[in-house]
Parts: sequence; C-alpha cells; structure tokens
Amino acid sequence: MNNQNVNNVPQEKSPVLELMAISHSYQTADGAIEAIRDINLSVDEHEFVCILGPSGCGKSTILNLLAGFFSPLAGQALIDGMPITKPDRNRGVMFQTDTLYPWMNVEDNITFGPRMRGAKSEECAAISQNYLSEVNLNTYGRKRVYELSGGMKQRVALARVLANEPRVILMDEPFAALDAVTRVQMQGLIRNIWHQEKRTIVMITHDIDEALSLGTRLVIMTRSPGTIEEIIETDFTITALNTPGQRVQITPEYIKLRDHIFQIIV
Ligand SMILES: Nc1ncnc2c1ncn2[C@@H]1O[C@H](COP(=O)(O)OP(=O)(O)O)[C@@H](O)[C@H]1O
Ligand SMILES: [Mg+2]
Repeated sequence: MNNQNVNNVPQEKSPVLELMAISHSYQTADGAIEAIRDINLSVDEHEFVCILGPSGCGKSTILNLLAGFFSPLAGQALIDGMPITKPDRNRGVMFQTDTLYPWMNVEDNITFGPRMRGAKSEECAAISQNYLSEVNLNTYGRKRVYELSGGMKQRVALARVLANEPRVILMDEPFAALDAVTRVQMQGLIRNIWHQEKRTIVMITHDIDEALSLGTRLVIMTRSPGTIEEIIETDFTITALNTPGQRVQITPEYIKLRDHIFQIIV
C-alpha cells in the first residue's frame, strides 16, 4: 500500500544502493588475491543491512567499494542508480578506530564537512550542537580529542558523519574496539538514530549478536573468495525498540537463527 501513488498505480521502489555482479581481486607480490566473487545486493531506503562473515571474507572490500575508495574489477556499484566513482558526502563512512583530527576540538571535527562547503561559524555552532545532542555529548564541543574515551570518540565520529547529512551511512565494525558495555550503549544509540531519522545504514560486523540485534536484513558471507551465502530478514531490532529498556529479546527463534548463522560462518 505504501508504494502506491495518488492514482493508485503501483510504484517501483528504487534501491538506494545496488551491487551488481561485483567481483574484486587485489594484486600482490605473490599474485592476485580474489577477495569477493559475484556479489549482488540492493539496499532500500531506511533498511539497516548488516553484512556478517568470518575474518578475511571480503566485508571491508565491499564497504570500501560502496564508499568509492576504489572500483571493482568486475561489476558495478550504484547509488540512486548512478555509478559510484569516488568518495563523496552521500556516503558517510565510520571505521573501527576513529579518524578524528587530533589537532581540532570536537566541534571543529564535527563541522569539518559543512565548513569545507562554506558554512559560517554561527551555522557550524548550531550544526555541532544539534549532532552532539543526538549522540548524547551535549557539553563536549570545546573538548580536545585526546580528552575523550574510546566510546566518546566513536560518538563524535558518528556526529561528524551525520553532520554531512549523508544518504547512506556505511560502518565497518564501528564498535569492535569498544568494551562490552559501551558497545551495547552504542548499539542502542545507532538503533535509535536509524529509527527516528529513517536513516539507511550498511554495517559490517563479525559479531552475530550485533547483527541480530541491529539489522533488518542480514547478509551472511562465506570466505575465500567471499560470496553471499544467505540473506535473512529479521525484526529483533524493531522488537527491541518497543521493549522497556530497548533490550533485544533472546527468544528461541533468536537462538535458532544465531546457531544457523554460526554454522554458516565458522
Ligand atoms: N589492499 C589489499 N591488498 C591485498 N590483499 C588485500 C587487501 N585488502 C584486503 N586484502 C585481502 O582480501 C581478502 C578480503 O579482505 P577484507 O575485505 O579486508 O576482509 P574482511 O573485512 O572480511 O576481514 C583477504 O584475503 C585480505 O587479505
Ligand atoms: Mg574488515
């Protein structure tokens, strides 16, 4: 029903991201390493796609191709139907370790993109305040990067991505380096931001529970060369949003699915 216009004509929902028959190899001194083979995936608006697989199966390769850091040897990556040729602000990228500029304070880090596009200082202050409050760091604008904990740095990195108003957020194991408690807090934060602002997110993880508790669609990969073994739709993240304390419910169905995924990726 949602996909019908006023004349009641069904509308084709076009994907935000498309990976079409993508394969990629790296040239090394010891010869070519085939990283991924024949990857086909499309991501719709407001999906939270988690790509899950063992170390070395090509997850980061896929993310880097989506970011536009390099082009695949075969196949095509599209955003809104247009080829991805280089990095741009439409795709905000977050990595495992923060890539904040240590010589700038928090506010200047967050507003780096807007400033490069000509935003004046008053506008930057408002942008910084807005996104700092979204990541629950209201009073941290003047802090230096070295004054922040690992979790805070990742919050600032997220605020910096959000300040660019990207079409898609790409995350490569963004919480993997955090302690268990901070990791769960960050998962709750990103789930809320995804839900409240209807963001579109592609997150790489090797953590089955993280994927199950965040993703609306899980892409399960196998290794060498990485291929997609299975794509699974889940609603544990939606259920968590409607649960007191937003805790993911470890139901028999959850345990069964976790076991199923475990069998695929080990
Ligand atoms: N720049 C590179 N040069 C050579 N080999 C690479 C490079 N990046 C990744 N690889 C290889 O490609 C494969 C997939 O790597 P990667 O995409 O980083 O996997 P994952 O993120 O799932 O751990 C691995 O075998 C890795 O060693
Ligand atoms: Mg990786």
